[in-house]
Amino acid sequence: MALINENYLKLKAGYLFPEIGRRVREYTQANPDKKVIRMGIGDVTQPLVPSVLKAFHEGVEELGNATTFKGYGPEQGYDFLREAIAVNDYQARGVDIKADDIFVSDGSKCDTGNIQEIFGQNNKIAICDPVYPVYADTTVMSGKTGVCLDNGYFEGIIYMPCTDDNGFVPELPSERPDLIFLCFPNNPTGTVASKEVLKKWVDYAIANKSVILYDAAYEAFITDESIPHSIYEIEGAKKVAIEFRSFSKTAGFTGTRCAFTVIPEELVAYDSNGQAHPVKPLWTRRHTTKFNGVSYPVQKAAAAIYTEQGRKEVKEVIAYYLENARIMRESLTKAGYMVYGGVNAPYVWVKTKNGMKSWDFFDKLLNEANVVGTPGSGFGPSGEGYFRFSAFADRDNVYDAMERIKNLTF
Ligand code: MLT
Repeated sequence: MALINENYLKLKAGYLFPEIGRRVREYTQANPDKKVIRMGIGDVTQPLVPSVLKAFHEGVEELGNATTFKGYGPEQGYDFLREAIAVNDYQARGVDIKADDIFVSDGSKCDTGNIQEIFGQNNKIAICDPVYPVYADTTVMSGKTGVCLDNGYFEGIIYMPCTDDNGFVPELPSERPDLIFLCFPNNPTGTVASKEVLKKWVDYAIANKSVILYDAAYEAFITDESIPHSIYEIEGAKKVAIEFRSFSKTAGFTGTRCAFTVIPEELVAYDSNGQAHPVKPLWTRRHTTKFNGVSYPVQKAAAAIYTEQGRKEVKEVIAYYLENARIMRESLTKAGYMVYGGVNAPYVWVKTKNGMKSWDFFDKLLNEANVVGTPGSGFGPSGEGYFRFSAFADRDNVYDAMERIKNLTF
């Protein structure tokens, strides 16, 4: 008799974004004449920039030529990309990360989900609330939790509420976690962490022999000079943090797929006898066993963002999305909403009106304004009463959506 992984039965509904997709599909099928504007899932709308596209084409051409053809590539990624990442994303900011610390992959969603595999089953996991649902759902799938309680929390996870009161930045938990998921710039609230905040977390992780799983997928949207782009800008972080980065939002690779995870040599975790072990060899073993690398043309395309021209083009696209966010913040504020985020991040986080529940607001917005966003409660119980708008949209749609929202009556 084949037995299922019963941890999957603990998961409540479907994954958040397919659920939104299902509701939107239902609505559009019933109302084919309505123009629905999608600002739900953070999916890019601008095309790949010319430098990236050119490199992508060249990579494909090379595969069609016997002298330049490539089969399996190195599982951790081609040296040219790992080197470009180490030099441009880290060494240029005074951070000593080497190409060898970088593992190129097909997405940060996969990496943040898979990373728990190299850590023991008895680890206590801390996550923010609200949070990118992947961290919580994959913790449940891995069997480290009990059931989902009435308050929406899973037994066994340490939740760190991020609310208006603490500026959506988590406080140190009272119970000691072993693995701590942090995401800055934050999905969904759009908040950032200052050097002081990150230092507090790094010191805490060092003192408690914990590991920080730092999701920096949105670092390219940081506009404030004083905000760290990498957790490794904090002294001591290489001993206690794994960093996840992605080309998805940075360079429009949501469909193309390319990301990377950084595991420095110094990072250790412990066996049941308290003996320290470097973590990097474990992830190397996992990655080389279960993954065969990102395709060559995609890695070549990703490397193009580190050329002078590529960098300039990608920056323009990011500025376009950030201008969307600015327009959204301004319009929503004028329309009487409390608005957060959207300055150093592509997400604008708003409080619903009249204490409306997030999913009720979602339905009202879809039915009456034909605009799709993401209900805050889908990111966790503390997101109830909030709503997330994604700035990854075409400008005309942004104006249109803001006008429709302004005209909503309550
Ligand atoms: C989001 O909308 O939260 C993201 O697009 C999801 C993701 O990156 O997987």
